[in-house]
Amino acid sequence: MTNALWPKAYRIKVVEPIRLPEREEREKLLREAGYNVFNLASDDVYVDLLTDSGTGAMSQAQWAALMEGDESYAGSRSFARFREVVQGITGFPYVLPTHQGRGAEHVLFSTLLQPGDVVPSNAHFDTTRAHILASGGKPVDLPIPDALDPDLDRPFKGDIDLAALEALLRNPPGRIPVVMLTVTNNTSAGQPVSLQNVRAASALARAYGVPLFLDACRYAENCFFVRERERGYGSAEPREIAAELFSLADGCTMSAKKDGLGNIGGFLAMRDRLLYGRCREKLILVEGFSTYGGLAGRDLAAIAVGLDEALDLGYLRDRIGQVRWLGERLREEGIPVYWPPGGHAVYVNAERLLPHIPRDAFPGQALVGAIYVEGGVRAVEVGSAMMGPEARLELVRLAIPRRTYTQEHLAAVVEALGRVRDKADTVPGLRLVEGEGPLRHFVARFEPIA
Ligand code: F0G
Repeated sequence: MTNALWPKAYRIKVVEPIRLPEREEREKLLREAGYNVFNLASDDVYVDLLTDSGTGAMSQAQWAALMEGDESYAGSRSFARFREVVQGITGFPYVLPTHQGRGAEHVLFSTLLQPGDVVPSNAHFDTTRAHILASGGKPVDLPIPDALDPDLDRPFKGDIDLAALEALLRNPPGRIPVVMLTVTNNTSAGQPVSLQNVRAASALARAYGVPLFLDACRYAENCFFVRERERGYGSAEPREIAAELFSLADGCTMSAKKDGLGNIGGFLAMRDRLLYGRCREKLILVEGFSTYGGLAGRDLAAIAVGLDEALDLGYLRDRIGQVRWLGERLREEGIPVYWPPGGHAVYVNAERLLPHIPRDAFPGQALVGAIYVEGGVRAVEVGSAMMGPEARLELVRLAIPRRTYTQEHLAAVVEALGRVRDKADTVPGLRLVEGEGPLRHFVARFEPIA
């Protein structure tokens, strides 16, 4: 048994009822959902680990801030506060609120990209990739080779491959208008990126005159790992580490649904005034005026508070401790998990748990279905259903919403996976019957292969 004692950073004040449907009901619901858990009603899910995005619990300070939201169309004081907090954390002078992270991606890439452009990254998230493609660009993932080894215990498996980045910058197959770094690296199992790696990538990008943008959704969790694992940061405040991280970049896209502790929201921030002007025009067209960007004033108010809370050391210790606990418990049960556990999620190695299912029969998607049937737990596939033939690993992500579930909930997840393990050879592979394109996994339907 792992040491489960890390200091909790909160207690519970409001509760939301949940229910575990009977097993036969779960089998029927999954069948009706086309073996895609995105099609399930949330009321039919017991422990929902589909995503950590917008699914967290807000604090009392955030709920209080909602009441003070200023709903003015232009120049609201909630925006002024929001901008002040974002500027304080990132040092970026120009801040545009967006309805969520992909809103920021849309505005940035549609403004910056021309057809044929190449955008390198340690690994793009699926919406980022899709927005680059939609603007005629080509997303290129350059993870370090260590990231592809699910068992190798290394502190910063989210790093970008610097040699590969330099080779691409030196010999670009098309114009490179921006280099992206995703911190933490969601598609590489939520692994952190070291400051040393960001510093080197930043120096390379600058040497070639290319701006570096962070996909900063989970930057606070990344800062916690830097504190824990990178030499010289052991006693630094997360906020100080964040200041250094952002100082190495020219801008960021952000989903405030993650480390903004909001249920909705995001932003685009940068140093370049001219680029800001062009992005603002686009923002007004697609998101809304530049002081609300598709959000209510109260959302901006809650995010401003959440951004500060997400940098609290006690909160981060609790948050990362909970994810780590789940990873360690699963490993003790003999469930093959990507190691080490990420910041926001534990990733199960579906190919290893279900070795009888070949890649073209979607082992990850099959495992997601089995976990739902065994425990009413909703997870998400990060493998060939999501990324097609480009998938490097067949993983199933158990993403933990922030401040939402207790250890008992997570123990139920461990039990469900234990039951899947016990009957792994009976889990059938799947055939794709509906869905195409880079976002097909949201809408795809499958059927079991007899
Ligand atoms: N970048 C990363 C690294 C993400 O993980 C996400 C969203 C986005 C961008 C887009 O942000 O959802 O606010 O539009 N990730 C969620 C997830 C959906 O489940 O990992 P968004």
